[in-house]
Amino acid sequence: MPKVKFVPQNKEIKVNAGTNLLKAADEAGLYIEGDCAGKGTCGKCRVRIVEGDTGEPTKAEKKHLSAGELEAGWALSCQRKIKQDSIIEVPMQKEAHLRKTTLAGGVENLEAEPTVEKVAVKLSRPAVKDQTADLERLLDHLKRPQLSVKLRELSGFPGMLRDNAYSVTTAITGNRIISIEPGDTSDQLYGIAFDIGTTTIMGSLLDLNNAAVIAVAAATNPQNIYGADVISRINHASQGKEELKQLQDKVLDSANNIIKDLLKQTKVARDRVYEVVAVGNTTMSHLFMGIDPTYLAPAPFIPAYSRALQVEVSELGLEINPAGRVTFLPNIAGYVGSDTVGVIVATEMDQRKDNCAAIDIGTNGELVLAANGRLMACSTAAGPAFEGAQIKQGMRAAAGAIESVSYVDNEIQVGTIDDLPASGICGSGLIDAAAALIDAGLIEATGRFVNPAENPEKVPAHFKDRLKRSQGGLEFILVPGRDSETGEDIVLSQGDLRELQLAKGAIYAGLMILLKEAGISENDLDEVLLAGAFGNYVRKESALTIGLLPQLPPEKIVAVGNAAGDGSKMALASETIRNRALALPEKVEHLELSTRSDFQDIFVDALKFR
Ligand code: FES
Repeated sequence: MPKVKFVPQNKEIKVNAGTNLLKAADEAGLYIEGDCAGKGTCGKCRVRIVEGDTGEPTKAEKKHLSAGELEAGWALSCQRKIKQDSIIEVPMQKEAHLRKTTLAGGVENLEAEPTVEKVAVKLSRPAVKDQTADLERLLDHLKRPQLSVKLRELSGFPGMLRDNAYSVTTAITGNRIISIEPGDTSDQLYGIAFDIGTTTIMGSLLDLNNAAVIAVAAATNPQNIYGADVISRINHASQGKEELKQLQDKVLDSANNIIKDLLKQTKVARDRVYEVVAVGNTTMSHLFMGIDPTYLAPAPFIPAYSRALQVEVSELGLEINPAGRVTFLPNIAGYVGSDTVGVIVATEMDQRKDNCAAIDIGTNGELVLAANGRLMACSTAAGPAFEGAQIKQGMRAAAGAIESVSYVDNEIQVGTIDDLPASGICGSGLIDAAAALIDAGLIEATGRFVNPAENPEKVPAHFKDRLKRSQGGLEFILVPGRDSETGEDIVLSQGDLRELQLAKGAIYAGLMILLKEAGISENDLDEVLLAGAFGNYVRKESALTIGLLPQLPPEKIVAVGNAAGDGSKMALASETIRNRALALPEKVEHLELSTRSDFQDIFVDALKFR
């Protein structure tokens, strides 16, 4: 078996000859970014061959890498196979950026109403005249003789009682004692809320005694190696049990790493965390639970389940109190998951009396409309453009990503995350860039760049050099190579504009169908809520300029942050809110857009830049 060493991470692994570098890195525990599940189409999984023969450059590599780069040893890791001992350089990956994540998000002023109760007791000592057994003594004291106890808790209970002067604390949920602890630990009651996104997994540690978020942590979803979108992951999972397990292991390992991080930040003991509540899209929910998602992909898009799943922590191997429980909130439909339930809960759309829409922008745009007493939801395939994927120099919202572009004083101004030299463009930067170039008169309503050769009068002189022609058509240089991190021009290409049009057209058309179904027009909307971390960074003006949103006064458009994650935290912190979330699938009407004959016409019309 040849040995592969990855530098500078210094990870070594032996793999079968013929294993590709992307897979070998994954087995070594290294994350290499890629969006196409190793098909060679995204060009993102770049590595440099320092030593060892990994074969000749493939067609895909010649397309994505320049002759100079190939000469210098650069390769696409999914295209090269290990033949002999090798040393491979992996550029340091940038983690998904926790942009301005607030600790309090969603649970400010929430009344704590945990489903786990802690009761500290001081028991009377046994005597010859009172030979009541230890457990019965405890249950009598609690006045709850019906409670069951885990064997694990009972095994050390007699010694614990005597070592602690008969002072212990019980953690109780429903009719079960899930933990018996020495002394008074009633002030230590914690839970973790997860938002399992296709791209990013986010965890929040809550003190359940006061519903306060005390730590947050996030990581890129490592299932990414099997493709950036849910369909690629469903396809992988449907190949067999082993592949399904690979996907489940990835997400659970990542969740455990996040748990470790949260505990380290706060010095909370693992055993004092009793509960996990999670939300995610329907595919993520299936993969987290290890349930075959195959039939979600083809019409009629049938999930294995839609109810909330509540399982023992031990069934999943999550590293909290082993007697704790995991609740994945319910899904509404195959492509409207518990993340949408989280959005509804967090924004209280189920309680509103006015007309309000919520849009969760992502690869799959999820839309909810509360109107005329009805609550409706649909999903629309926006594609990965808003995540920076399938964009020529697209990247996630990580350090160095162009996140804002504006047209001020006849100039294009660009801002990057952490103010670093630009290395690519993320979703919010993409929307901003298109809006700024529309404002500058360089993009037509059809989405085409104004051609300086055909319409020289429409292109100001100082932009002429920045509109250049490449293989794929015209492109606008946002940041010249001399100022970028990569040394290459960072551009907005004609192809990027097409991807953006498809994405924003899908979202807009989905919303129009919901409004049509409710019998109202966009002018009847009192508010449009932009959910999703992404929604926080999209400038409303830009979203309006490109026609992603209905033409409403900007004050009616409100960014509500990561509402799905907030809903998860709220359902963890409050039993009343959790019950509201559990009841939502019954109340939400799901609209399937793919069967609507009117969708295509509305969508085609929505492709235009307004
Ligand atoms: S080109 Fe290798 S993962 Fe996309």
